[in-house]
Amino acid sequence: MPITPQELIANLGDLPPLPQVASQVLRVSADPDANAEDLRKVIAMDQALTSQILKISNSAMFGMVREVTTLTQAIMTLGFSTIKSVVIASSAKNLYHRGTVGLQERLIWEHALVSAIASRAFAKSLRFARVEEAFIGGLMHDIGKSVLGVKFPERYGTLLRTVYNEQGGCLQLELDTFGFDHAMVGEALVSRWNLASSLQSAVRWHHDPLHAPEEHQELAAIVALSNQLALEEKIGIGDPRHLEDASSQAMEILKLSSEALAGIKEGVRAAIEQDKSMVAEF
Ligand SMILES: [Fe+2]
Ligand SMILES: [Fe+2]
Repeated sequence: MPITPQELIANLGDLPPLPQVASQVLRVSADPDANAEDLRKVIAMDQALTSQILKISNSAMFGMVREVTTLTQAIMTLGFSTIKSVVIASSAKNLYHRGTVGLQERLIWEHALVSAIASRAFAKSLRFARVEEAFIGGLMHDIGKSVLGVKFPERYGTLLRTVYNEQGGCLQLELDTFGFDHAMVGEALVSRWNLASSLQSAVRWHHDPLHAPEEHQELAAIVALSNQLALEEKIGIGDPRHLEDASSQAMEILKLSSEALAGIKEGVRAAIEQDKSMVAEF
């Protein structure tokens, strides 16, 4: 029997909070009356975040024409919604790095970032309106793995090594070991961070998007396809063949034929190639 969210929290204990600056940025960027100056003040309190935003603003990913040197410029050029992605990405990065050790750490973070870039590119070519939300969905989909790594470093480290050596599917091993999987844990974290309910669903259902509530299925499907594409590109830990069922569900939701999907994937691969410099910089 699957465990309830309450049992999950009881088993996991406290989840890592969203850093304070990040939650303030989310609050300000969601406020229709807030302006760029309000946002600048909040971000400026955090030196590391400020330099990260400037660096990202100037990376290939956002195709800047002229160099961005101030926060105000960055906010004006990128817009609130992209700044929000960068801030969540920076918080997620810290957690991804805390949750795992050595090689796994780097692989899981690169997988998150490449899935995020892929989700954004899928969203654009599918004319999905909330492109930045797709980016965050891709970025956060496996965050439950990091939480498991923080909570159970030894047991989860061993489990990931088994997956890495291609001796099993991640989800089933997690269920056998803990009674819950990284998708459930990820959902708990995303809701703890107060991210949108669409994102909670996308994280929860990225391995079976047809189970997501109908209004969130498209986003879950986009994240599922990105996850598989990232593994096909050999970025991450796991065998993309374990994700075939997730992908066929996604194709059904998005009404894509195999030919149509293959065409879109070409474009997504090109986007990953173009944005790859960001993976090294971030
Ligand atoms: Fe996953
Ligand atoms: Fe993944």
